[in-house]
Formats: sequence, C-alpha cells, structure tokens
Amino acid sequence: MSAPDQPPQGVPVSLSASVVGSFAYLTIRDRLPTILTKVIDTIHRNKNTFFEEYGEVGVQAEKSAISLLSKLRNELQTDKPVIPLTDGLEDAESWNQYLERHQHLLEEEDGVSWFKSPWLYVECYMYRRIQEAIWLNPPINDFDVFNEGKTQSYFESQQAIMALCTNLRGLNKSTEELPENQLVEHFHKLLKVSLWGNKCDLSISAGQENSQKASPLESLAELQPYVLVDDSDSVWLALISARRPGPSGKPTPGRVDIVLDNAGFELVTDLVLADFLVSSGLAREIRFHGKSIPWFVSDVTANDFQWTIRQTMAANHKWMSKSGVQWQSYVREGVWSYQDHPFWTQPHEFCDMTSDAPDLYATLQGSDLVLFKGDLNYRKLTGDRDWEPTVSFDVALRGFGPAPLCSLRTLKANVQVGLQAGQAEKLSACHPDWMTSGKYAVVQYCSPNS
Ligand code: F6P
Ligand code: MG
Repeated sequence: MSAPDQPPQGVPVSLSASVVGSFAYLTIRDRLPTILTKVIDTIHRNKNTFFEEYGEVGVQAEKSAISLLSKLRNELQTDKPVIPLTDGLEDAESWNQYLERHQHLLEEEDGVSWFKSPWLYVECYMYRRIQEAIWLNPPINDFDVFNEGKTQSYFESQQAIMALCTNLRGLNKSTEELPENQLVEHFHKLLKVSLWGNKCDLSISAGQENSQKASPLESLAELQPYVLVDDSDSVWLALISARRPGPSGKPTPGRVDIVLDNAGFELVTDLVLADFLVSSGLAREIRFHGKSIPWFVSDVTANDFQWTIRQTMAANHKWMSKSGVQWQSYVREGVWSYQDHPFWTQPHEFCDMTSDAPDLYATLQGSDLVLFKGDLNYRKLTGDRDWEPTVSFDVALRGFGPAPLCSLRTLKANVQVGLQAGQAEKLSACHPDWMTSGKYAVVQYCSPNS
C-alpha cells in the first residue's frame, strides 16, 4: 500500500470545525455522532426481530454491538486516538497499515485522532468501525444497519420513479428509429437526471428522509444554471468514438462502467441511464461497481442492487414493472453486471489505485467510459484537497486515468476544481454554502488521451 502522501497543493480537509464553515443540515462534526446515534437506535429497534430469528443469542449480540458503537461514539466525540481494527476481515490489515503510515507522517505525539486527521480518512474509518461492531457480533453479523433508510428512500420516490420508467419505455419503442439529434437530446436529459439523482443521498441529511417527489425530467431546465461545469458534450463524444465497426457493418458500441453511489432514487436514475445507453446502441455492456459493506448511509451494496431490480419488477405499475423485467434480463444475459471491490470502501484517493488495487485499475482500463457518481467519489478523485477552484480536473486527478472518465456530482464537500477564474468568488458572495448545500452540481470529464 502506498503512503498517504503530502499534497502538491493545499492540505486534506480535516474534521476540525474551523475549516468546515456552515452547513445546510448539520456541521460535519455533528453529523457523524448523529449518524452513529441513529445506527444504535436502529439496532435497538430490531431487538425483537433478532430474538425471533436467533433467540437469546440474538439479543446478546444486539447488546454487544450497541456497546461497541457507543464506545465508538465516545471516542469520536472526545477526540480519542484512531485505533487499529480487530475484526480480522480481509481488508483489516490494510486499514491498520494505513493508520500506521498516517501516524508516521503526522508525527503527532498522541497519535492520529478524530479531529486532527483528514476528514476523508476519519469519515471512512467511522463506517468501517460500524461494520466491525456488526461483524464481531454473530449471528447478527450480516445486518445492514442502513437498509431501512435505503428502502424508504426508494418507496418515497415512487412518483418520480414511475415518471422516469414511463418516459424510458416510451423512448425504448422508438430509439432504433430516432434521428441522431433526438438521441443526443435524450442522452443529455438522462445524464442530467442521473446527475441530480445524487442530490438524494442520506448521509448529507444524517439519514433523514431526502427523497425525490417531483418528476425529475420536468425540473431539468430550472436546474441547469446550477451546473457549474458541464462537459456532457465530451461524454457524448466519448461514447460515439468508442463505436467500432461490427461484423455486420453495424457499429459495435463500447463498454461503460458506472461507479455507483446511493441506493434509492439515485440508483434508479443510474439504471434508467444504463438502460437507455444499451437500448439506444450507445453502449454494448454496462458494469456497475458498488460497495461490499454498508457505507456512507445510503451507498449501494449487491443486495440493494438486486433488491431494487426485483422491487421495480414487482411494482404495480406497467412501465415500472416492464423496466424491472428489462433490467433483470440485462443482468441475466450479462449485458449488465455488478461487482464490488474492497478498494471502494477504503479511505484511499483514487490516484493510489494503481499501487493499492492494480486489479481494479486493470478492470477499469477495459472500459470506454467510467462514470463516477456522487460527492464521495469526487473527493477521492481529487484527493479531498484544498485545491484552488481554478486548478484543472486533470491536475487534481494526479495521474488517475484508467479510461475516459466523468464525475457526476452534486457538491456536498469543500472541494471543487475546474472552475473559471472568479466563478468561486462570485458563488461565495451570493451563496456562502455553495460547496456543501447539494444545490450545485458538475459534470466533469477527463480523458487520458486529451
Ligand atoms: O457531506 C456529507 C457527506 O457524508 C460527505 O462526507 C460525503 O462526501 C457525502 O456526504 C456523501 O455524498 P455522496 O453520497 O454524494 O457521495
Ligand atoms: Mg453516498
């Protein structure tokens, strides 16, 4: 594993309140204990279920998990040192090595602690410690503490999901005959729907309901001024230029990878985009990348991915269920696949992927376009550094470029690059919370060949 290196510019954003500024919902420092309190509450509320499933041993496991999580909350709130993981899971050793290297680097007398360490690191570490508390307590060790919120977000977005599926199935009937200019138009719309789907994550609201009620397609024009960087045209060109002459003379499109973010409404927007890309001949294959453990409250796991498709199939709405059936057959035929990798649930910046997860890097190199969804992926793409906002995306990626890539992200954290001179200053003057409110967004593209 490579060391968390020193930034060429700026410093990693830390949890200390002084650099955080105001936040639309809760300050970063408040948000983590609030999330932990909700996790504890969720486990406690499921006590009877554990008893019904496992008897007394389930109740003992519930108590013990809560005690570990309460200890964790106390460590966080009182700025205790960050301690090694003890659960012996596959990735524990690499987390512990990362901690050791951090300790060396920071040369803190009293070790790496919650407030003094980079925010990206401690935030990831908190979610990994939640998993440790669950994992150490069989038989409840496969309990997803965030499952309720994720399924609730899906159900509360039903109207918007119906609108999207109805639109999609209408398009599918005609995509073969659509002239290119209309295809481009639909592509732009569905890319933006997937972008704004990222507004609906639960970690920004500390797990409180944050779903999509209105039809997202109708709000796109209104939202456009909030897209600070819009490289959608480059994304379109990447798809078009990935087409290769096929055996029958018809061009064969390329492979698109989507590094997923949140379950619930956002995942549906990603599946709708993926469906459109395949059915319109803009992609021949889609690989979805998700998390191997419950992560950042609402992130997609394999279970969420399958559940969402099943649930959409079973919907009592013609176009939703037809969409679900279509998605299931894409999965069955291997046109769509889902994979996870421990790298996605580590604190590493993506420029470390070549050394820390070379197999994953090699997989992404086979793609013609990698879409990175969401804020956390953006923070990892740019190393969560305090960059000048005018620094180019390419520079901030610091060599990470397995394939042409694009970030689809609503802004929820104090990092942004690739803006025009003066743009950040104007935004700060009118909207002091522009970087963290989730109101603004970027579609930011970079190709290793450009
Ligand atoms: O702002 C809170 C936060 O948890 C950030 O730490 C994180 O970057 C973001 O929310 C998660 O957002 P997303 O789901 O878009 O990655
Ligand atoms: Mg997320």
